[in-house]
Amino acid sequence: MQPRCGVSVCHVLVLVLCLSAAEDFDWTKNNHGSFYYGTFPTGFSWGAGGSAYQTEGAWDKDGKGLSIWDVFSHKKGKIQLNDTGDSSCESYYKIKDDISLMKEIRLNHHRFSISWPRIIPTGVKSDHVNGKGIQYYDELIDHLLENHITPIVTLYHWDLPQVLQEKYGGWQNISMVNHFNDFANLCFEKFGDRVKHWITFNNPWSVAVEGYETGEHAPGLKLRGTGAYRAAHHIIKAHAKVWHAYDTQWRGKQKGLVGISLSGDWGEPVDISNQKDIEAAERYVQFYLGWFATPVFHGDYPQVMKDFVGRKSVQQGLGTSRLPAFSSQEKSYIKGTCDFLGIGHFTTRYITHRNDPTGRSSNSYFTDRDLAELVDPRWPDPGSEWLYSVPWGFRRLLNFVKTQYGNPMIYVTENGVSEKMMCTELCDEWRIQYYKDYINEMLKAIRDGVNVKGYTAWSLLDKFEWDEGYSERFGLYYVDFRNKNKPRYPKASVQFYKRIISSNGFPNQREVENWRRKAVEMCSSSNQLLAADPLTSHMEMVTEIVVPTVCTLSILISAVLLMFLLRRRN
Ligand code: NOJ
Repeated sequence: MQPRCGVSVCHVLVLVLCLSAAEDFDWTKNNHGSFYYGTFPTGFSWGAGGSAYQTEGAWDKDGKGLSIWDVFSHKKGKIQLNDTGDSSCESYYKIKDDISLMKEIRLNHHRFSISWPRIIPTGVKSDHVNGKGIQYYDELIDHLLENHITPIVTLYHWDLPQVLQEKYGGWQNISMVNHFNDFANLCFEKFGDRVKHWITFNNPWSVAVEGYETGEHAPGLKLRGTGAYRAAHHIIKAHAKVWHAYDTQWRGKQKGLVGISLSGDWGEPVDISNQKDIEAAERYVQFYLGWFATPVFHGDYPQVMKDFVGRKSVQQGLGTSRLPAFSSQEKSYIKGTCDFLGIGHFTTRYITHRNDPTGRSSNSYFTDRDLAELVDPRWPDPGSEWLYSVPWGFRRLLNFVKTQYGNPMIYVTENGVSEKMMCTELCDEWRIQYYKDYINEMLKAIRDGVNVKGYTAWSLLDKFEWDEGYSERFGLYYVDFRNKNKPRYPKASVQFYKRIISSNGFPNQREVENWRRKAVEMCSSSNQLLAADPLTSHMEMVTEIVVPTVCTLSILISAVLLMFLLRRRN
């Protein structure tokens, strides 16, 4: 990686060239190392989250239909160790247990998603609505509210009904727009009296790119160069349709908000005195967050995406751009369909310009961007391969949102860090450090004037981590997946996050240091509990398998002996 140049002059350049709209954020004072002690605005909402397929389990229970993730994870070789979400955390059966964990941390909100095939098994509303599925979410919502925890509900966290994939090709097909709209309206009808924060889609970037371009995620298609763009196009239309439906049919009565949750890494130019790198970094963010945010706020794709994909398509001899276009009617219909923006953010990359080839074989979303991603080897990376801890990137991304999209209301819908499976350590100091620093950068962003209303730690529990199976743990609570009861154990970060919440921020250095010390002290007793767990599961095996088997055998042997004795007597 090239060395970064002297800070202040270069950051003025970033201000002027890279983010030309930035007015308030003083890039020259973004001192990466400093910590800000202070509190969040009154009423700031603290939460934790999860999603249906990642936590619920009960994949084939009570009338639930199959989702594309049920089918994908059952195919050999798609998921680490061929894990599936069949039982996962069994959250379907643990509403009360999990809510007591949330109460323990004193969360203000909980973010979860509704499994579409659990309430509409085939995905088509007119086929059948599953009462038991509705009942499950009713109970979850009611218990949350009884405990003063606000539900923030995602409609689509990747688990498309399998029938819709098989019949229509899933998000490649425009008919998804109406099916999704029917599903969303059913949710508004059934739950909208109590749910006031709706998220249409979670991280559509991943759905499009990993589901339809690289095939790492369900449905596993590799339609390079076109599949992701087409899927995204239909998702954006579906989002807009649902927002309008809420706006015209439900908002008057229910008075809720409808947003979308987008994920975005921050992209920082490798050399901030190099115009090409500055443009490449901006392109990186526009192809990521901007791909979805620009349509919902401004009505169309980022100009740079239209230019790059359009030019490459021409060079490849195609008659039209691989990036579909919105009609002018569609543009005005899509523009402004966002009451709040959900931001999922985990990490940052350094970006440099790189000319990618344009031949047909090199067709892809990735090569369309003409850039290379780099990381600083000094960045901590305790868990997932892609997840480097770079807190200052978070403040920059939040300021980018403010300047590009007119300072919208933001809820941070995901932020957190993982550890590898082997690491059954509950004293997760690196997670404490990550949360402390990232939450602090968010506080700085709020002081910059970014309109952040809430923060969601990702995630409440360890859970199924998509193609990584259970090998990457994001939870505040450790889940023992070897034990069929899936017990939960608090990691040290639970104590630390709880303190941030009860103080609504960071009061002073001495206290914050104390929190960390106490959290780490307390976790050693949880570690002992966890260490004893194999014993618990062993004892369960004894009572549930060995004892009944021995009893049955004894009865059989006694019966045989009895028959033998009776025969001899006769
Ligand atoms: C974003 C996804 O929305 C979420 O489901 C996942 O757990 C995190 N990324 C971490 O990989």
